[in-house]
Amino acid sequence: MPDTLPHTLRIPPRPPAPTRVRGQVDGFFVLRRNPLELWGAPAYEEDILFGRFLGREQVLLNAPDAIRQVLVTNAEKYGRSPATIRVLRPIIGEGLFLAEGAAWRHQRRTIAPALAPRTMGLLARHVVTASEEFEAGLEKRLYRPVQLLPLLQLLALEVAGTSMFSLQTAEFSAELRALITKYGLRYGRPGLFDLVLPAPYPSTLDFGRDRFRREWLAFLGRVIEARRAQPAPDSPRDLFDLLEAARDPETGEGFGEAQLRDEVSTMIIAGHETTAVTLFWSCYLAALYPDLADRIAAEAAPLDLSPETAGEAIRSLPYTRAFIDESLRLYPPAFLIVRQAMEADVIDGRAIVPGTVISISPWVVHRHRRLWRDPDVFDPDRFLPGATPPERFAYLPFGAGPRVCVGMQFALTEAVLVLARLLRRYRLRLVGGGEVMPRGLVTVQPDRPVRFELAPRT
Ligand code: HEM
Repeated sequence: MPDTLPHTLRIPPRPPAPTRVRGQVDGFFVLRRNPLELWGAPAYEEDILFGRFLGREQVLLNAPDAIRQVLVTNAEKYGRSPATIRVLRPIIGEGLFLAEGAAWRHQRRTIAPALAPRTMGLLARHVVTASEEFEAGLEKRLYRPVQLLPLLQLLALEVAGTSMFSLQTAEFSAELRALITKYGLRYGRPGLFDLVLPAPYPSTLDFGRDRFRREWLAFLGRVIEARRAQPAPDSPRDLFDLLEAARDPETGEGFGEAQLRDEVSTMIIAGHETTAVTLFWSCYLAALYPDLADRIAAEAAPLDLSPETAGEAIRSLPYTRAFIDESLRLYPPAFLIVRQAMEADVIDGRAIVPGTVISISPWVVHRHRRLWRDPDVFDPDRFLPGATPPERFAYLPFGAGPRVCVGMQFALTEAVLVLARLLRRYRLRLVGGGEVMPRGLVTVQPDRPVRFELAPRT
């Protein structure tokens, strides 16, 4: 492949949209295999699609105004779906992601300041320290095929662990990894019964999930106990210190022990795999389009990206940030935002009955024919400062409205710093032929192991 392609030829792989309408049974198997193959051509052209699936009314929303209505204007009429609750409750309990109503408002007000832009300097330090270790590991594997995804998953979990519990990570990280892997493999995706059974009835997987919850809580209890044995610091070392000290600005209330534990779980679970796959797809795109990787390397080369200064230096990485933004457009890790109508509503003149499942798919919206110019083309320039910004409700890698991702700044800080450091040090090349297809599991993953070869830039 030549080093520089005309930008309109930069079309990275995606599964073809099916040409015929899928039946219920076919639809279920596609959902299990790869939900990104579910939506046919009309999904990428129409504003709203109505249908019925697994006994429920279903709506796919693409029109920005309708998305705003569900996520913002009438947000209180919509809640998390029973399947989401079933799958996540055993691991994140009553934490922010699943909380509703007054409990959610209290948690959100209390947590948001710990993840606001002013704490990014502290978190950037943890990111860079973990990234230095990741790069040192790569140094031993130059010029040989290496699978980056598992290494990026370890890195992101290390960042989640150290930024949460800076001191305890070494002692507990192997167990943390083992537990999270076990949950992901056995219980992390909804099975058929999770989707069709009404909320009060346990599904076959729920018994294992209950067992897992006991194991997970015992583990977190031990980490927190070890933490409490440390002398209290003068200034916050990490997210745990920030969360422990956090108070609701309206009521002055902090988190009790059980709530703190669920918030810790929520931050670790919501944050690490999403960020790992963001970095994976960015590396994949950097290997596909080396001229764009060179631009990142040139931008990062003169900067001091060491732990103490990286939080500031991030402002000088606008192209790297645009590259990440564009990767998140074409490969949004959270490819589906689901809500269930709790009350009746009207969307685009159509009645929405309680129980209707509303899907807003960043995967579909980001590739929508009417919302984007050259939607399948990878072009970071569209996110550079000075370019026309995308319509707010047409670009949703972190959701939108009151429940927008609370970890967005942190995730972007991590993704930008790790990618900038990696690409200024190494050229990435893909090893072996064939296209890598995105597959929607819990997040958007590659459909097979992908090997890269790294060569030093100097
Ligand atoms: C690239 C990485 C990430 C992506 C793509 C992502 C995506 C999202 C999306 C789409 C939502 C909204 C879900 C909805 O409306 O149903 C969300 C919510 C959330 N995210 Fe993230 N996220 C990322 C990283 C993180 C990190 C690093 C953290 C924590 C440190 C985090 C914590 C949360 C939490 C707690 C919520 C629920 C917020 C609420 O309901 O108030 N996320 N995320």
